[in-house]
Amino acid sequence: MCIKSALCFDPVLAKDDIYLFPLLKPEVSIQKLYQQIVVCFAGNNYSLLKSSPAMENNSDEKIYYPSQAVIEQANVQEYEKLYNWSVENPEQFWAEQADSLKWYKKWDQVLDRSNPPFFSWFVGGKTNIILNAIDRHLENANRNKLALIWEGEPGDVRTFSYHALNREVCQFANILKSMGAKKGEVITIYMPQIPEQIIAMLACAKIGAVHSVVYGGFSHEALADRINDANSRIVITADGGYRRGKVVEMKSVVNKAMELSPTMEICITVKRTGVDVYMESGRDYWLHELKALPIAANKCETEQMDSADMLFLLYTSGSTGKPKALVHTHGGFSVYTSTTHRMVFDIKPEDRYWCAADPGWITGHSYIVYGPLMNGATIMLYEGAPTYPYPDRWWKMVEKYGINILYTSPTAIRSLMRFGDSWPNRNDISSLRLLGSVGEPISPEAWRWFYKAVGREKCPIIDTWWQTETGGFMIAPLPITPLKPGSATKPFFGNVIDVVDEKGNEVKNGEEGTLVIKTPWPGMTAGIFRDPQRFIDTYWKKYDKQGWYLTGDSAKKDKDGYFRIIGRTDDVIKVSGYRLGTAEIESVMANHPAIAEAAAIALPHDLKGNCIHIVAVLRIGYTASKELEHEMIMHMVEHLGPIARPEEITFADQLPKTRSGKIMRRVLKARALGLPEGDLSTLEE
Ligand code: WTA
Repeated sequence: MCIKSALCFDPVLAKDDIYLFPLLKPEVSIQKLYQQIVVCFAGNNYSLLKSSPAMENNSDEKIYYPSQAVIEQANVQEYEKLYNWSVENPEQFWAEQADSLKWYKKWDQVLDRSNPPFFSWFVGGKTNIILNAIDRHLENANRNKLALIWEGEPGDVRTFSYHALNREVCQFANILKSMGAKKGEVITIYMPQIPEQIIAMLACAKIGAVHSVVYGGFSHEALADRINDANSRIVITADGGYRRGKVVEMKSVVNKAMELSPTMEICITVKRTGVDVYMESGRDYWLHELKALPIAANKCETEQMDSADMLFLLYTSGSTGKPKALVHTHGGFSVYTSTTHRMVFDIKPEDRYWCAADPGWITGHSYIVYGPLMNGATIMLYEGAPTYPYPDRWWKMVEKYGINILYTSPTAIRSLMRFGDSWPNRNDISSLRLLGSVGEPISPEAWRWFYKAVGREKCPIIDTWWQTETGGFMIAPLPITPLKPGSATKPFFGNVIDVVDEKGNEVKNGEEGTLVIKTPWPGMTAGIFRDPQRFIDTYWKKYDKQGWYLTGDSAKKDKDGYFRIIGRTDDVIKVSGYRLGTAEIESVMANHPAIAEAAAIALPHDLKGNCIHIVAVLRIGYTASKELEHEMIMHMVEHLGPIARPEEITFADQLPKTRSGKIMRRVLKARALGLPEGDLSTLEE
């Protein structure tokens, strides 16, 4: 049987199975053969699996009720009554939650509403997120509990108790201090998913410095833009990390970025892979060498911070070319992430919790690092690709470490779904109790696969809707909530959220409208770093009379009050769950000498959710060709990063524009999809 036809049966491939592979040479190992099968499988049979009959007979309207076992142990036993009370008494609700945390000094006022949209939470309170994420666990039974289990892609494992995590964080914090790091200073982190990434974040927080983690999929130019915007002086990186069996270099990217960053003075590098890197004397330091010095003491005082002091910046794409840094603070963010994590993910002392996101994403900040550590959880971190070396890498780790809660993205779910049920079936993943999803709408089909093949119909799917700006879950079920596939269900406590029309009128049930948040919440961003006007214009101007926050998403609400998120309505494209601004993509594209003008649009993609499609107008003297398309794709990868790789570039003589010169991306999208072009009355002649 050739591999292609064998795969059509979604086989369980065991080491003893014999397949005839026409090109198989004697030196091809079983591992190589498996990898070839995986590649072939991914490329050719996805659509076959997608429409397997077992998946088609389900209606999206079917309600999935949580099991008695899940309900019985849920941290929160009732939703409606508590929700109603929480929105009538939000300050009391949040004060009660804040009370379960430790403070150096309690707040004088829960919420200061005097200067909207700059709301201030727990005013007068003194804290530091580290006080709750680490320090308090050193005094209780968590001291010797595992805080972090880490597995590298090659299979190496490191674990840290809370005691050990504290030691590592203190050492790192002392090193940063010896480099002159100060309270309020922005420190950039550009790292693979290794323990030091988390340790570096925590060390910054501990000394009151502000971390700015830049996602590793960004290019040196994108990194330099972010370093320069934040005036960052110190960058923390690693020589590289492992991804799909290969080393992804990082220090070399940082070196190039530093050349473009006048404020850069110091780079601390973790040796992870041993690849050759250039180190400049007086600027570059190896972490392991610094750790061997007496400065890296095991104890370090945690800096006392005001509630409103900055904890971190996180850059995200918006609708102009310039990325914006959203600010989160020590007080409100601590309360919001610990509460939402405890209630929604129902965390128990004995749980092993795995949020399989990148710590460089807001999901990683809120729900790998801070929320779970504040709740004293054991967290899991994995360095590499979910399908390396085989598509059951994740399931193997679930079995190996006894993971109870797994939180991931629809993109990852789709990428695992295409390999079929046999891969999760090969492992004992019965320890799982709850599953979560975030980052983009999850299709009912992917939802049901996750529910059945991974959750064995006993784990609720916790579909959480939120944003970098919101800091934590805004719409999400509790474990006790009856579920509808593809719906993030209802608002979290304290939040009034609605779907409205242009004027702010509530739309009818089942109709699409704009998703708005009507009330302040403690996790909300404190603003855009050094750009208050942009913060007002982007989020608060549209419904300024009502004082509502504009999410940038469209949604529908059904008769039971369940929300279904449809997608972005602004110029933001979500690719594999990551946010990219069309303006950012277009400005990189326009730097290519062959390009006169370009427009980026999002087109649906089986795996990534959306992919980037570019329509380009060439300068005179250039001719469209496959080679030029490839060159332009590589131009994007080099200048913005692999995450921004366009799926396709098509060439046009001109772009459709309004009379005021705005590109009508809607028209380009309709054309690309072969749909009616809609109202063209504003189109320029
Ligand atoms: C989208 C990610 C549907 C949405 C935490 C939002 C979702 C944007 C969901 C924020 C979900 C996030 N269902 N869409 N459960 N979660 N989104 O800032 O478009 O990277 O506005 O934060 O992701 O993306 P961000």
